[in-house]
Amino acid sequence: MSVSQEGPNHIAIVMDGNGRWASKRLLPRLAGHRQGLESLRRCIAACIERQVKVLTVFAFSSENWKRPADEVLGLMDLLANALAKEVPQLLKDGVRLYFVGDRQGLSKKVSDGLAQGEAATAHNSRLVLNVCFNYGGRWDMVQAAGKVAAFGKPITEQAITDALALAHVSDPDLFIRTGGEMRLSNFLLWQAAYSELYFSKKLWPDFDESALDQAIAAFLSRERRFGMTSAQLSESEDRPKLPRPK
Ligand code: IPE
Ligand code: IPE
Ligand code: MG
Repeated sequence: MSVSQEGPNHIAIVMDGNGRWASKRLLPRLAGHRQGLESLRRCIAACIERQVKVLTVFAFSSENWKRPADEVLGLMDLLANALAKEVPQLLKDGVRLYFVGDRQGLSKKVSDGLAQGEAATAHNSRLVLNVCFNYGGRWDMVQAAGKVAAFGKPITEQAITDALALAHVSDPDLFIRTGGEMRLSNFLLWQAAYSELYFSKKLWPDFDESALDQAIAAFLSRERRFGMTSAQLSESEDRPKLPRPK
């Protein structure tokens, strides 16, 4: 079997399991989210070391507003404070930050922090870090369709792709969800069409470098066929690509 030889260029992660991590220790859920932030810091460093070019993380979904108000407020505060604290390090490490999500509904502190973080790191290029916050795949498709319609463009795959909130990066190669659930929960519904899916039972705060390496090893063992057959893939290694039928 021919397998993909290159590591993933773009990794997307549903960072799930913070609440359970805290409950297991009889701590408030917010303590789990704080530990989740530590895990993200470690994961960013690990991605840089492994020459991953894009890391897209799901930090707060369109549906997470349904949580108790104190948890929602706690998550907003955590993000605002993390931005203020972490941006200098991201800057040093060559990370370019993008905020991906609906800015409406976010407090001024959070949206200003995100805009400042984006502006401060705009010249970096070692790793693109997309923080999906107040994001949902359905929200993204709706806003993209609205943009295409507003410009009176024909509805094509390319036009929609270009109008989506992640138009600045290629689709994720590897889609990881921690915490044991095997669902997408409205993350990257369009962009994950051909991502390799990997589900880890580890709770996000416990997802360390070796867990990331296991996910990458699983990715490397997969054959990405994109609709073709295995035989075609081995042939195409020495032949020019056939044009895609319209
Ligand atoms: C993921 O962890 C983080 C957010 C959704 C903000 P959870 O808070 O969903 O943790 P569990 O799934 O309850 O353990
Ligand atoms: C998905 O996790 C959202 C984030 C990790 C930010 P959830 O914990 O909200 O997903 P469900 O509710 O279990 O599907
Ligand atoms: Mg969860």
